[in-house]
Amino acid sequence: MKGLPFVISTAVLATSLVHASSLGTCHPANRSPPTLTWSLLNTANTNQFRGLAPVSHKVAWVSGTNSTVLRTTDGGNTWKSVGPQLTGPDAELEFRDIQAWSAKKAVILSIGFGPESRIYFTEDGGKNWTQSFGNEEEAAFYDCIAFENEKRGLAMSDPVDGKIRLIETLDGGKSWSVIDSAGIPPARANEWGFAASGTCLTTTAGRWYVGTGGEDPGRVFYSSDGHIWDVSNTTLLGAEAAGVFSVRFRDRKHGIAVGGDFENPTGNMNNAAWSTDGGRTWQSAARFPDGYRSGSSWVPGHCDMALAVGSTGSDFTLDGGRTWIGFDNGTFDSVECLEGGLCWASGAGGRVARLYVK
Ligand SMILES: *[C@@H]1O[C@H](CO)[C@@H](O)[C@H](O)[C@H]1NC(C)=O
Ligand SMILES: *[C@@H]1O[C@H](CO)[C@@H](O)[C@H](O)[C@H]1NC(C)=O
Ligand SMILES: *[C@@H]1O[C@H](CO)[C@@H](O)[C@H](O)[C@H]1NC(C)=O
Ligand SMILES: *[C@@H]1O[C@H](CO)[C@@H](O)[C@H](O)[C@H]1NC(C)=O
Repeated sequence: MKGLPFVISTAVLATSLVHASSLGTCHPANRSPPTLTWSLLNTANTNQFRGLAPVSHKVAWVSGTNSTVLRTTDGGNTWKSVGPQLTGPDAELEFRDIQAWSAKKAVILSIGFGPESRIYFTEDGGKNWTQSFGNEEEAAFYDCIAFENEKRGLAMSDPVDGKIRLIETLDGGKSWSVIDSAGIPPARANEWGFAASGTCLTTTAGRWYVGTGGEDPGRVFYSSDGHIWDVSNTTLLGAEAAGVFSVRFRDRKHGIAVGGDFENPTGNMNNAAWSTDGGRTWQSAARFPDGYRSGSSWVPGHCDMALAVGSTGSDFTLDGGRTWIGFDNGTFDSVECLEGGLCWASGAGGRVARLYVK
């Protein structure tokens, strides 16, 4: 399908679209539902890009299998391979998450047990990568990385000694230290995160969130400083390959959690929930996304609007996650929307796409 734009009109429902004013409050306006159409970009690459970091309308980075990192500086028309020059088994590392601040500065996370979980950073657009973290704990498996600004970030691993493992950087990813697990609630026996879209750990407005599964139900850990955490049950199904894959907040209160069962990708029950109290409590969506969803993003400037993507398609919500409406059935793993309503998505088979929310 590469190179073919999808043209699928949205279900025609009389729904109201809400907008954010410059002060961030919502003003419902009578609007017909948006027509959302992904335009596929030609990456000339077939790796799976679960890592996605758009920076602007021009600059975006994707990362994924075979230690591949691509970057565009012309809005996605051309892509340059800028990943670390790795050889031997390291050439097959999977960079499942990436954070970028410019065409020059980025941090990437590779997944895997033991020494395969690594963090590298570049400050020159990928000419030179430096490894700044290499996991030495046998049980650790790092899933996601997130930054609240150019200096401070966290990375999250599946539990070590019964607690999710978190590490922290205060210098933009150049050095990392383990966060004391005393402030983290215990994990259940088979609880873990999903390294599917880089959004199992996210931060908004000074608060931090971790989505998990492995056991029923999927849960969300939440924290106002990244050190002292609480945890809540969601309404999402949890199982070995099921739970919360993506947790996103648009402010200190309003959040969505999406996921489902990776092994039942068309399953469309109990795969999305919403919160209006910072993640303390969760309500089930009334109408679910059309399948397992690995990634989600609020659309800045459209206050209750968000997108969710997964291997069986894309959906939008206009009401903060209460109802989801499918608009595309192509495969994606990750989605990120920027100010101005530009959303980028990335996934398997080298697929990267963009759309504008008007
Ligand atoms: C990843 O690398 C392996 C080994 O070099 C190769 O067989 C495979 O086709 C590559 N995958 C993609 C998606 O390019
Ligand atoms: C690569 O970047 C690191 C960290 O900034 C620096 O120490 C090193 O000298 C750089 N190497 C080259 C070849 O530029
Ligand atoms: C969360 O769910 C578990 C498993 O169903 C249950 O044992 C526990 O009581 C729930 N916790 C809360 C606070 O509802
Ligand atoms: C996916 O979308 C295309 C284009 O609208 C449509 O032709 C096709 O039937 C859809 N496939 C499924 C499985 O829904």
